[in-house]
Amino acid sequence: MDWQARYQVGDTPWDKGCVTPVLTELIGKNPFFFGESKRFFVPGCGFGYDALAIAETGSSVIGMDIAESAVKQAQRLESAERELSFVSGDIFELAENLYGRFDFVWEHTCFCALDPSLRSRYVEQMWKVLKQGGAVVGVFFINPDVAAGEGPPYGASREEIRALFASHFVLEWESEPKCCYEGREGREHVMLFRRLTDCREIDC
Ligand SMILES: C[S@@+](CC[C@H](N)C(=O)[O-])C[C@H]1O[C@@H](n2cnc3c(N)ncnc32)[C@H](O)[C@@H]1O
Repeated sequence: MDWQARYQVGDTPWDKGCVTPVLTELIGKNPFFFGESKRFFVPGCGFGYDALAIAETGSSVIGMDIAESAVKQAQRLESAERELSFVSGDIFELAENLYGRFDFVWEHTCFCALDPSLRSRYVEQMWKVLKQGGAVVGVFFINPDVAAGEGPPYGASREEIRALFASHFVLEWESEPKCCYEGREGREHVMLFRRLTDCREIDC
């Protein structure tokens, strides 16, 4: 998928123009995840609405996207008043200075955008950027309207997602969001995976 080309021609049906209601709900219900001492990484951040909402809690946030056009627009949200920055980059080619740096990864429609063959590598990369005790928290797209094997977005069941993360994370909690973008009712699942200190599949 040429993401940059999609942004250049404005073919971005995933972009809803605002923060996902799931994140707003999460911030309201779990304010202790957020705040001044917390550092977040937002992979596949798109235009940056979620990253902005997290930064507005006082957290420090870096959003990354492979599409330069998306990052350029997101960078308009940067301001001296908040610790928010956007970088263009590929999450599979992360600079080592990002390793072990974050308390949380906020996942929202990056995982489902990736070819399923890349999912294990996604899990490894998120493990690498997190500090000890850090966590991936996010909303996973469970049942997109596409035939099996077609995408993006690529579907994944709760069981598949749990199994994928199990090599590097332990599932701490999961829930069904009460709010979501119109049209995604019943198709999103919130999960928090806590980083394992010793992973089973990579040299740590
Ligand atoms: C479905 S869009 C979702 C964007 C944003 N999260 C949103 O909800 O509006 C998936 C995003 O992931 C980005 N992306 C895909 N592969 C990536 C990679 N390997 N590294 C960084 N970003 C990637 C795309 O450019 C795109 O912006």
